[in-house]
Amino acid sequence: MASSPSPSAEQIQALFDRIAPVYDTFNQQLSWGLHRVWKQMAVQWSGAQPGDTCLDVCCGSGDIALLLGRQVGPSGRVVGLDFSAEQLAIAQRRSDRQWPRPSITWHQGDALALPFAAEHFDAATMGYGLRNLTNIPQGLQELRRVLKPGAQAAILDFHQPSNPVMQGFQQWYLDAIVVPTAKRCGLTEEYAYISSSLDRFPNGTRQVQLAHEAGFSAAIHYPIAGGLMGVLVVTR
Ligand SMILES: C[S@@+](CC[C@H](N)C(=O)[O-])C[C@H]1O[C@@H](n2cnc3c(N)ncnc32)[C@H](O)[C@@H]1O
Repeated sequence: MASSPSPSAEQIQALFDRIAPVYDTFNQQLSWGLHRVWKQMAVQWSGAQPGDTCLDVCCGSGDIALLLGRQVGPSGRVVGLDFSAEQLAIAQRRSDRQWPRPSITWHQGDALALPFAAEHFDAATMGYGLRNLTNIPQGLQELRRVLKPGAQAAILDFHQPSNPVMQGFQQWYLDAIVVPTAKRCGLTEEYAYISSSLDRFPNGTRQVQLAHEAGFSAAIHYPIAGGLMGVLVVTR
């Protein structure tokens, strides 16, 4: 099946600005709350430790950065970066509501040109961001550049399972659950995009290759949730 043309960075940014008000509720409903478990796994696999300085790329409304904040504790620091101002405004409100206030800085910027010095971070995460980048190799190179030597990043995203039964389940889930739920909220176009972005997204083996080409010294892709999701763990 031919996939639809890739959207531009501006279109992706506008899409995430538009869906910001419903984004968290949708994730919660569509994953039956499991996305929080997968996000916590990404935080663990990033190797973040108390006192570390960590980066969450494509942080959206802040789920993973907030978990990282808990992991690094009061002596650590977290930066959440995204190019959607609307998502960041929600992330800021969420961290302002927490007590004690986590040491998280929300930063508007581009994952393809990270506004940070080389070798700055002890660990990094990216949740459902890599699939949305218009240039995945460049995104991986940028991530590698800002990590300290030996530091790890955990990249969580959808994955196309190799098992035909799970493939059938994934297609059914997208067509029968995601798209109708989005339609009820007047967001048909916005959520139809998940399916085409998944068609274009490299599988785990290819992600590992791309990570090596970007210069990471080690890369392993872990399929999770029956292969419906995956976490790429890379080491600088
Ligand atoms: C599916 S959301 C994931 C948000 C969050 N990480 C989570 O797991 O809930 C993808 C996010 O990537 C951001 N994004 C996509 N391309 C980007 C880029 N080039 N630079 C910065 N953010 C980007 C979007 O604005 C959006 O907030």
